[in-house]
Amino acid sequence: MKTPAWAALKAHRSAMQNLRMADEFARDGQRAQRFSIEAAGVFLDYSKNLITPETMRLLLALASECGVANRRDAMMAGERINLSENRAVLHMALRNPAASARKYVLDGVDVGAEVQRVLAHMREFTQQVREGIWRGGTGREITDIVNIGIGGSDLGPQMVCEALRTFAHPRLTVHFVSNVDGAALERTLAKLSADTTLFIVASKTFTTQETLTNARSARDWFVASGGRATDVAKHFVAVSTNAVEVEKFGIDTANMFEFWDWVGGRYSLWSAIGLSIALAIGMDGFEALLAGAHAMDEHFATAPLDANMPVLLALVGVWNVNFCAANSQCVAPYAQDLHRLAAYLQQLEMESNGKSVDRGGNALSTASCPVIWGEPGTNGQHAFFQLLHQGTSVIPVDFIAATYGNGALPEHHRLLLANCIAQSEALMVGKSEAEVHVELRAKGLNAAEIYALTPHKFFAGNRPSNTMLLDSLTPQSLGALIALYEQKVFVQGVIWGVNSFDQWGVELGKQLAKTIDAELKSGTVSGAHDGSTKALMQRVMS
Ligand code: F6P
Repeated sequence: MKTPAWAALKAHRSAMQNLRMADEFARDGQRAQRFSIEAAGVFLDYSKNLITPETMRLLLALASECGVANRRDAMMAGERINLSENRAVLHMALRNPAASARKYVLDGVDVGAEVQRVLAHMREFTQQVREGIWRGGTGREITDIVNIGIGGSDLGPQMVCEALRTFAHPRLTVHFVSNVDGAALERTLAKLSADTTLFIVASKTFTTQETLTNARSARDWFVASGGRATDVAKHFVAVSTNAVEVEKFGIDTANMFEFWDWVGGRYSLWSAIGLSIALAIGMDGFEALLAGAHAMDEHFATAPLDANMPVLLALVGVWNVNFCAANSQCVAPYAQDLHRLAAYLQQLEMESNGKSVDRGGNALSTASCPVIWGEPGTNGQHAFFQLLHQGTSVIPVDFIAATYGNGALPEHHRLLLANCIAQSEALMVGKSEAEVHVELRAKGLNAAEIYALTPHKFFAGNRPSNTMLLDSLTPQSLGALIALYEQKVFVQGVIWGVNSFDQWGVELGKQLAKTIDAELKSGTVSGAHDGSTKALMQRVMS
């Protein structure tokens, strides 16, 4: 990275190596307010990072030098910014209301009409299923929906359905089958009855091995469970860009919900890939999800960079990774219903920015996407927070919470919030040796015991985190939160110089799996494999 801003940031980091956040808060009574921002129903406090106003000034200079605003505008203008696949990136169009003055145009055509057509098809279909008008082959109402898909055709819909479970239709249960491991499909089908089950085969390409294998087995199960072949159409629908493959599989294209190649898999939950969401929470709920994302999009599209939440979140992340040497990022939602958020963000972030060459194919000279991981709080406190507080790696944490719970158990919610806020405070302030001494002395330990125990009870602190607060977890607030992360990923991709919208890294494993599977099936191991692979194949074949 040769830009002047990058060099200035490196010099700045060296000069402020000894910065302690606690001192900065003591010195600047307005720090929390200075480094907080609210937009589209999301409140972001990024003040517990190793930053000063100068840091943010230099980071914003970097964003300008990297042309963040221009690249954003190019994406929104339908330019084919996904260079290696020669595709536009227009998932923002999926949540752009029909009445919006903003238009998303591809090759001179406003894609809004197509988007609205599919939304209308989704509305009609989901209403029929939810109101019991769409019935199975034996005339019974649908009670269970099985989404068969993987990656972006699974993680987003599943995360949203889990997050919005309190908004779900009382009669409908949505299940998600993704892994080709038969256990996934078997454990799901064991609970279901063929005549009340609707399968959604969700696959952008409709060539994904796991999805087609599961779909074929599901169809076999349906027929073996008494379903008539002529009734497959009432129990199987498809979501894809590939009508030819859908028809070849045997699903009537009248039961296909299409989307387009300008929607990346990990950006597709807003498209018909979100059909399971719309079935669960209703089309009004789904459109509220879209509206939340649209509100964040408009903020991203119009706010100046220094007052732009996705830009600020992205820049703080770049600061942590590229100047504070963080190589992983923890996501800790203090909301059990967000328990699939980290898994969803793993694909969104790591499949988008887990690259080592830039858009021009040149090797990166700086780090790019960190490892994204996490679990809901408070559980993480009893699993990996030990490392976050006292480990040798400093790992930034994104805390996410809703100010208001769903009202069921208010005392539980108060405790949840207290823990969330306490953890970010503890990571930042730590506990000094002097404080440990006072504590141990008050417990009556002698000098030798205090001397021995102090290093183990010392907390260095000064460990960074962001805290994001939603008023409550609703379709609208969730939509805004997800769009925030999508746009953050976009901005980081621009700064790292990578193409955030292709995923060539998934191809080699798929190719080798096809070869190995064929050999396992035939019982002959070719000599072309290395010794380990050969031995493993022979072992599993014996
Ligand atoms: O992981 C590779 C990938 O292509 C993802 O980008 C995508 O979301 C997933 O596989 C599933 O692809 P499809 O929706 O085409 O089945």
